[in-house]
Amino acid sequence: MATVSPKSPVGINGIGRIGKLLVWMLTARKEQDAVIISTGRKIGKDIRDLATYMSYDSTFGPYERFMFGFGREQSLEVKGDDLFMNGVRIVWLNSPDCRKPGNITWSGHGVEVVFDTTGKMLDPSMNEENSLRGHLNHAKKVILTAPFKIKNKGALLPDDAVTVVMGVNDHVYDNQKHNIISNASCTTNCCAPPIKALVDHFGDKMISYALTTVHSVTNSQSVLDTLPKDGDKDTRKRRSILNNIIPTTTGAANAVLEVIPEVRELGIGSQASAIRVPSNTGSIVVMDVSLLGEYDNTYINDIFKKYSSANPEVMLFSEKQLVSADIIGSPYSTIYDSLFTHRRTSKRDDRYYTMVDLNFWYDNEFGYVNSLMRLYDLVTNRK
Ligand SMILES: NC(=O)c1ccc[n+]([C@@H]2O[C@H](COP(=O)([O-])OP(=O)(O)OC[C@H]3O[C@@H](n4cnc5c(N)ncnc54)[C@H](OP(=O)(O)O)[C@@H]3O)[C@@H](O)[C@H]2O)c1
Repeated sequence: MATVSPKSPVGINGIGRIGKLLVWMLTARKEQDAVIISTGRKIGKDIRDLATYMSYDSTFGPYERFMFGFGREQSLEVKGDDLFMNGVRIVWLNSPDCRKPGNITWSGHGVEVVFDTTGKMLDPSMNEENSLRGHLNHAKKVILTAPFKIKNKGALLPDDAVTVVMGVNDHVYDNQKHNIISNASCTTNCCAPPIKALVDHFGDKMISYALTTVHSVTNSQSVLDTLPKDGDKDTRKRRSILNNIIPTTTGAANAVLEVIPEVRELGIGSQASAIRVPSNTGSIVVMDVSLLGEYDNTYINDIFKKYSSANPEVMLFSEKQLVSADIIGSPYSTIYDSLFTHRRTSKRDDRYYTMVDLNFWYDNEFGYVNSLMRLYDLVTNRK
């Protein structure tokens, strides 16, 4: 049994895009006295370089502005060897031993819940020091900020591991049983809520859906063309992100089957792909849905109106003509662009079929970190 306290310091492994924004969110909420971060290595010359990294962000602007708008509060300071953000102590673990999760003495700092944001440890079936499960040597729960990837094809998802998408399958989370929790991907957090709303509404009248995410850049891509690594399957990912539209893959189709088992049970066809584009954050899922029957835009919009009022933190129902810059800093997992929706009905063998095109926006960084906070609240019994 692993009950956790919402007041205990939070641990974060890896301080890249997602890890850094988690620190911003946690220190803004200020519910813990400390956040313990592990980089497992030194940064620049000393803690002042860590402070500068934490202070400024090329996408979201300065931490001070995030906290206080254009006020002048000094909310991030180094005192001796310690960094404080909004009065919350940031304890920095930078010894090379900490590169392996099993060696990080989280409990020594009072940590019960750890976020692993490294993107390097994705397999919950592995049981060694240098794996996701290693965090449980010294912590009660670990939240993975990515989908699970089981390397050994024959291995099953262990009983204590679960994928949870808030607003979709959060009811499956069992505090007594689950200690390794995946928050799935940002794309799954964007597309699974509307797919759930559609499946719940149409059932077997939903024939299929196909989605494409047009996704901003991540650090897994190359600034300029780089030589592919040995064994790279998707060599397009090594092409420059500065000046390309790059078709690639996404695991969202499989992840949706995991969190909405009805898709498989009802035999609904599904497919997903991705296109990477040169913007810093802000992405969109374009979804084509094929339905049995005749439906107009108002009918379709009502489904998402109902879903968003039942899940107001997860989905925003937008009636504005948005572009990607408008959703930067949005906390929602998914934003339904109701003005974009268009559909066409056809008739075959006395049956009507409707094809619907839908758009869902998401800030793949900030929206995703907010979905992590919602999951954290579930894990710490606040929801
Ligand atoms: N960016 C997004 O839009 C987004 C959205 C949803 C989910 N995610 C997922 O979240 C994860 C992180 O994404 P990100 O965009 O934040 O990536 P990122 O910017 O590359 O950050 C990952 C960080 O982890 C560090 N790291 C790697 N191995 C480590 C280890 N053993 N110990 C400590 N630190 C380690 C890296 O630093 P070093 O230089 O020291 O290796 C890097 O700073 C990925 O799985 C990604 O798929 C990303």
